[in-house]
Amino acid sequence: MIKENDLDKLRDEISKYLGSKRLVHTLSVEEECVALAEIFGLGLENKMRLRVAALLHDITKKFTHEEQLNYCFNNNIFYTEEEKFTPKIFHAKTGAHMAKQLFGDIADEIICEAIKYHTTAKANMNLIEILLYLADYIEPKRDFSDCVILRAEFYEMINNLENLELVLNKILTRSFDMTIEGLILNKEIIHPDTTSARNFYIRKILNRD
Ligand SMILES: [Fe+2]
Ligand SMILES: [Fe+2]
Repeated sequence: MIKENDLDKLRDEISKYLGSKRLVHTLSVEEECVALAEIFGLGLENKMRLRVAALLHDITKKFTHEEQLNYCFNNNIFYTEEEKFTPKIFHAKTGAHMAKQLFGDIADEIICEAIKYHTTAKANMNLIEILLYLADYIEPKRDFSDCVILRAEFYEMINNLENLELVLNKILTRSFDMTIEGLILNKEIIHPDTTSARNFYIRKILNRD
């Protein structure tokens, strides 16, 4: 199992790959993951996995778009024609790959999969994937208005609603709505994984399973 000591080493290592602002964000995502793991009763083994995923999730964020494409080409990472027009998602794909390459002794498949979907999300996520996605959105150092709003709504729901699964379904759906609205306003491409995630979690709320 992953130990605190492994996390300490990882924290030192990632500072080589992240700028100072991104490092602050990354450490804040880890802290938010700890808080969320507590709320949702994640077992110790998965809580440690979630913290590793948090520390590594933006490891390739510094790459330019060209570097992202080159990394994909050199490492046989598949992307669709459509994805060429969603540049923000590349760091999730390359990050998942690099996490395995550099830290494969602690970053297992479950961790890498969570990193891979931390930007778009996807339908039917496991709790580690959900909590990394959510922590990345609502960690308190983020001051983008959607993040601030979503964070406030999430903690208000946690305080008022007892059904944790319903809270997750609602907050995930709300986050996808905000993301999709922003993309439409900016005339940007919506990644199909985000659309299918939104449809999956809204169906859960509407009980149309
Ligand atoms: Fe990211
Ligand atoms: Fe991030």
